[in-house]
Amino acid sequence: MLSEKVANIPPFYVMEVLERAQQLEEQGKSIIHLEIGEPDFPTAEHICNAAKDAMCTGNTKYTHSQGLIELRQAIAKNYKDRFDVDISPEQIIVTSGTSPAMLLLFLALIDPEDEIIMSNPHYACYPNFVTTVGGVPDFIYTNEENGFMLQPEEVAAHINPKTKAILINSPSNPTGQVLPDATLRMLAKVAGDIPIISDEIYQGLVYEGEDHTILEYTDNAFVLNGFSKLYAMTGWRLGYLIAPKEHIRTLQKIQQNLFISTNTFVQYAGIAALEGPQEQTEEMVDTYNKRRLYLIKRLRDIGFDIKVEPKGAYYVLADARKFGDDSLKMSRDILEDIGVAITPGIDFGQGAEGHLRFSYANSLENIMEGMDRLEKYLSDRQI
Ligand SMILES: Cc1ncc(COP(=O)(O)O)c(C=O)c1O
Repeated sequence: MLSEKVANIPPFYVMEVLERAQQLEEQGKSIIHLEIGEPDFPTAEHICNAAKDAMCTGNTKYTHSQGLIELRQAIAKNYKDRFDVDISPEQIIVTSGTSPAMLLLFLALIDPEDEIIMSNPHYACYPNFVTTVGGVPDFIYTNEENGFMLQPEEVAAHINPKTKAILINSPSNPTGQVLPDATLRMLAKVAGDIPIISDEIYQGLVYEGEDHTILEYTDNAFVLNGFSKLYAMTGWRLGYLIAPKEHIRTLQKIQQNLFISTNTFVQYAGIAALEGPQEQTEEMVDTYNKRRLYLIKRLRDIGFDIKVEPKGAYYVLADARKFGDDSLKMSRDILEDIGVAITPGIDFGQGAEGHLRFSYANSLENIMEGMDRLEKYLSDRQI
C-alpha cells in the first residue's frame, strides 16, 4: 500500500540500538550509552532563557519562511568572523534541524536517476535521503589507508553527466576525520560547475587540525549546518541551509509549502547561542577532547585497531574485525550481554562493516565503565 520508494528504506540503526537500550533500561538493566551522537551536556542557561523570554513575550507566531532576519544575520556574521567568508542573510533558510534542510535541498536538486557522489562510510541517512527523492548515491569507498577521506582525483574520476552534486561532511560522522585545507581546495577545483554540498554540523568540534567551511573555497556550494551538536541543542530542532542566491527562491517556496517556518522561540534561542557567551561551548570542546584521547587509548589497549585517529566530531570508528565481521551482530550481542550500546559500522555503509562506532558524547566516568565491561567481555570470550 505504501510507495515503492519508501518500502525498502533501511532503519537508522543507531536509533534502533538506542530504542532497544532504553527498553533494557526500563527492565532495570544498567546501560552505558556509547551509541548516540547526542551531547550529554544541558543546553546553556542563557540559550534556554532566550527561548523562555521569547515565548512569554508573544513570539509564538509564524516567522518569515526563511527565518528571523536577526538569526540569519547572526549566522552570516558567525561565518564572517570564523572563516572570513561573505554570505548574505538572503542566502540562508532556517529549518527545524539540519535533517529538514537536507530534505529541502535534495528535493530541490534531484531529478530521477541523478547521482550524488559521497564517501562510504557516510552519515547513515545520506543515501536514504537521496534514494527517497529518486536519486542514486554514487559511493566512493574510503578506508584507513586514505585516512577515510575523499580523494579529489577519485572524485574527478566519478564525475559523469548524471552527477548532480558532491556531498562532503567534515568533521565527519562516523569517522571523526577533518578534511584539510589542501583537500578542500582540490575538491572545489575538480567539482568545477558541479555544486558541493557540505554538511558542517560538527563545525567547531575540531581537536586537531583546522576548522573550515567549503565557502572559503567555492561559492558553488550548499552548506548544511545546525545547532544540535556544538550548542548541545539536539532536541530543539534548529538548523539551516546556506545556498547560492540564484537557488534561494525555489528553496524558499519548498520551505513555505512543506514547513511554513521554523519554531519561533527556538530561533530566538539560536540567536542567543551565536551571540551569547561562548565559554560553555569552549569547555565542552575541551572535555570532548579529553574523552577522545582516553577512548582511543582504551580501545587500542582492548585490541581494537584505530589506524587513523579521529580529529573532530565526537566519534571513534574502531576496526573490530579481530573480534568479528558482522558489526550488527557484534553490537547486538554486546548490548544484550553487557549493556554497552554501540553503533554497528554497517549503519554507515559497507565501507564501515567490521567496525564499531563509539560516541564519546558521554561522561568520562561512563566511558570508563563501558570500556571496563567491554575489556572483560572480550577477554572472557578469549577472542
Ligand atoms: C553528519 C550529520 N548530519 C546531520 C545530522 C542531523 O542533525 P540535526 O539534529 O540538525 O537534524 C547528524 C546527526 O547526527 C549528523 O551526524
